[in-house]
Amino acid sequence: MDKEKKIILILLAALVIGMFIEVSLTQKVSWELKGVSSDIKDLETSIKGVDTSVKNVDSLVKIMKTNLEESARESFKRDMQENGRRMLSLDYAGKFSRWDAAKKEVDELDKNLQDSADHNSDLEQSIQTFRSTYVPKLRDAVDKKDIKNFELVWNETYNSCIACHKGASAPSTAFDVLREISSEVDQLSG
Ligand code: HEC
Repeated sequence: MDKEKKIILILLAALVIGMFIEVSLTQKVSWELKGVSSDIKDLETSIKGVDTSVKNVDSLVKIMKTNLEESARESFKRDMQENGRRMLSLDYAGKFSRWDAAKKEVDELDKNLQDSADHNSDLEQSIQTFRSTYVPKLRDAVDKKDIKNFELVWNETYNSCIACHKGASAPSTAFDVLREISSEVDQLSG
């Protein structure tokens, strides 16, 4: 081999080695880039995951709120039915001069009106006003042990129950139940 051929061979070898190095560097960089972009994708996916979880929590909170409102409405209705029963028993007790029993019914009505107020934030104020107006009047009437006076106070209270039902656009059941109460008491007293 002469000198020139040797030089050409060395140059060729250097060229090949250079190309090899360049190719492997480029590949390394592109692998790293791929790595970074898949990391970003992972990050995006987990951010979306967090978004969905936040949305899920949001809708859970909404469901819980609706359930709570629903059960408060149910409780309020039950409280009202209890108010009806207490008014009925109270009237019986008064008509037959069972003043101890009547006293107990007024106490129960008082407690139950407090529950009614707790279960209806919209009507809370009106119920408390009703309670602080009529519970003392009923207590006083029971203490006086005068059937006629008691009947007057009971009727005044009863009419105020109905006045609120009208004002609050209560469903017709509220009126039906109270009408039944007053007719039961009327039948009994003849
Ligand atoms: C501040 C307003 C208010 C007062 C005072 C009030 N109520 Fe009510 N009552 C309501 C409303 C509102 C409803 C309807 C509840 C519903 O169905 O969601 C109702 C419903 C009722 C019902 C029907 C419950 C049912 O099964 O549907 C009865 C019985 C009742 N009330 C009795 C009474 C009696 C007795 C009193 C008096 C001691 C009274 N309420 C005082 C607002 C009132």
